[in-house]
Amino acid sequence: MAEGKRFRLFPSDEAKDAPKESPSMTPGEPNSRKSQQRPAMTRRDFLAKSNAGALAVGVMTGTGFASLVQAEPPQAAPPADAGEPVKTRRVTLEIDGKRHEVSVDVRESLWETMNYQLGLSNSNLGCDRSQCGACTVLMDGKPVNGCSLLSARLGRGQKILTVAGIASGPGPAGLHPVQRAFWLEGGFQCGICTRGLVMSSYALLEKNKNPTNDDIKEALAGNICRCGEYAKILTSVQKAAAEMRGERVSYTAPLVVGEEPRAPAAPVEGAISKQFEFARPLGTIEQYDDLAMELRDRPGIAGISGTERTITPTWDPKVLDEARVRQILADMGFAVKP
Ligand code: FES
Ligand code: FES
Repeated sequence: MAEGKRFRLFPSDEAKDAPKESPSMTPGEPNSRKSQQRPAMTRRDFLAKSNAGALAVGVMTGTGFASLVQAEPPQAAPPADAGEPVKTRRVTLEIDGKRHEVSVDVRESLWETMNYQLGLSNSNLGCDRSQCGACTVLMDGKPVNGCSLLSARLGRGQKILTVAGIASGPGPAGLHPVQRAFWLEGGFQCGICTRGLVMSSYALLEKNKNPTNDDIKEALAGNICRCGEYAKILTSVQKAAAEMRGERVSYTAPLVVGEEPRAPAAPVEGAISKQFEFARPLGTIEQYDDLAMELRDRPGIAGISGTERTITPTWDPKVLDEARVRQILADMGFAVKP
């Protein structure tokens, strides 16, 4: 570039450097103030006239500014063999070790397929837009948001794991350490976020059984708990990690295992059943539960059902009669109406 010359990026640069005389619009005319004439048509004139013209036509024809819009050329018809766009796809989903053959809408999320098509309610739906992590499941070991993953894109052998797939057996003893820790350490309140947090924690502890609090916060960054149970969630993950390392762990809430459910009583031949109304209705259904539990142990009682207002015992007529049943109830403090 020759010295003193510079690029002019904007016309205004040109205008600033131009001689003070206005340039002539007519070729060959001297460029001096004396000989300056008004150009035949300035840019301003042109715009004013063309707009006015358009407006006039618009007013006359009633089309207004619509008259200035150029009609789009007609769209070319799609080729005859293009066919209907694909709307469904058949996929095989492997969820918690079980294969499911299913036809999915191409717009359907994994969460929708699991819940609406397969009846697997193993993850929760919070925001439905990849913001809260409530729907987290693992795909090939990595946490993903089931609400934002299209089922139609799956089915190529990916392994999907949910909370139902990490327990090793039934009952509290069969829970995975992460599940047990969240439960017994109270790492939840409403529970909307819990399944997602359990799965993100599981993914972390599969790789790192000795995480720092920062590691846990990083791994759970995509999971939001609206109830704000973060302190307990952190403790839950640390306790689960300790259990997975083989350490002895005590939890804030000790595990209380309830009674084994009783085997149903053998049917009694000729059993009699009658509904009685309590002389004074019970205060709560829990009061009825306590009464039923005690009455069930009395000899000759074969079954029992009821509410806060009524009770329907079934008894063996070879052992009891109605008067004796009434007497038993009265002795227990729950007299019934005649
Ligand atoms: S429901 Fe999927 S991220 Fe919130
Ligand atoms: S326990 Fe309610 S959102 Fe986490």
